[in-house]
Amino acid sequence: MENRDTNSKRRSEKNIGNLLISSLWNWSLSNSHRSKFFSKICFYFLIASIRRIYMRAKIRGRIPAVLAISPTMRCNYDCMGCYSRDRVYNNELTTEEFDSVLTEAEKLGFSTVVVTGGEPFIRQDTLNLMEKHKRLLFVTITNGSLISFESAKRISESGNIVTLVSIEGFVSDTDFRRNEGAHEVAIRTFDYLRKAGAFFGFAATNTTANIENLASDEFVDRMVASGCAVGFFTEYIPCGPDPRFDWVLSELQRESFREQVLEIRNEKSIIVVQFPHDEYGKDNICSAAGRASLHINSQGEVEPCPFVSISWENIRKGGLVSACKSPFLRAIREHSELLQRKDLACSLFEHFEEIKILSLQFNNIQIGKRKKNY
Ligand SMILES: C[S@@+](CC[C@H](N)C(=O)[O-])C[C@H]1O[C@@H](n2cnc3c(N)ncnc32)[C@H](O)[C@@H]1O
Ligand code: SF4
Repeated sequence: MENRDTNSKRRSEKNIGNLLISSLWNWSLSNSHRSKFFSKICFYFLIASIRRIYMRAKIRGRIPAVLAISPTMRCNYDCMGCYSRDRVYNNELTTEEFDSVLTEAEKLGFSTVVVTGGEPFIRQDTLNLMEKHKRLLFVTITNGSLISFESAKRISESGNIVTLVSIEGFVSDTDFRRNEGAHEVAIRTFDYLRKAGAFFGFAATNTTANIENLASDEFVDRMVASGCAVGFFTEYIPCGPDPRFDWVLSELQRESFREQVLEIRNEKSIIVVQFPHDEYGKDNICSAAGRASLHINSQGEVEPCPFVSISWENIRKGGLVSACKSPFLRAIREHSELLQRKDLACSLFEHFEEIKILSLQFNNIQIGKRKKNY
């Protein structure tokens, strides 16, 4: 019995890439359209990983597998505690610039592009560009309000887009933190995506206010019934213009939620990913700052992750190659203590002041706003 428990626990401890592939695999088993989606993604992942090895040697830089990009910081919602609400809205990447980052990402061997923001679908070109760059897997996080049934069909037909619709639990949790009616909108979007045959899931932010509901069987069962094949739980980080320190989970809450996550993986027909646990791995080192991912903001600034708006390069000057060769990101990686989290879910945010000091040795540094110290 003990052996069986240990084995199932080991099975449920996987990295994010493997978790995503597992959920795609489970989802793909039911029909040939889905199996085609799955095989194509695996094939492109393989090509990208070979290309990455070659390009790393060629450019003498570190090319992570995942590019996170916020093509816009504009949004039609105003959610409480959103980290992006005090970012700059103007001087966005043009369509040509957005397109060229994606072309370069393919050439360099990135395999996955996480599209976030702001609300990514507020830009009319976001879906067009995802459809165009078929060799990249797009994981798009959205509030869902701008996805019509027609766009859900396009998402499904494109065959390279995973849509994560944000929801905070039940109606009261979601409408409390997001706009009134946001829960209904999310459920409607799940409906469109399911009917269109797309691969999709939910994204929820864990806070002290909704953690019990998120961990409940009822919530997870509802997400499965809505057609979600995957779910991302991200722990709240107290940043942005109105940080809610009372929403930060205690270590006890965090660990007890971890147990629930491992149980869900073993017992429910959905794969769930938990940040920070699945991002940090056993060595407790964050995978951002170019280790496994980096972030490009809406103005082209290269940032270690979306939560830490400090940058040294802009892809408008040096392209994505400059991000992969960034001395600033390398300096963060060389100070591994900056990548180790303590009380919060994000080590880089927790070490914001030290990173700011580290950044001062570089010129032209762009430092985003941070209202309060934690
Ligand atoms: C910033 S939003 C952008 C995409 C889209 N507008 C949406 O809401 O899904 C991406 C995800 O980050 C989450 N988020 C926002 N502020 C956060 C914070 N301070 N800590 C952790 N997650 C946060 C949101 O709930 C959402 O699931
Ligand atoms: S969480 Fe998403 S929908 Fe809400 S304000 Fe932030 S960017 Fe907009």
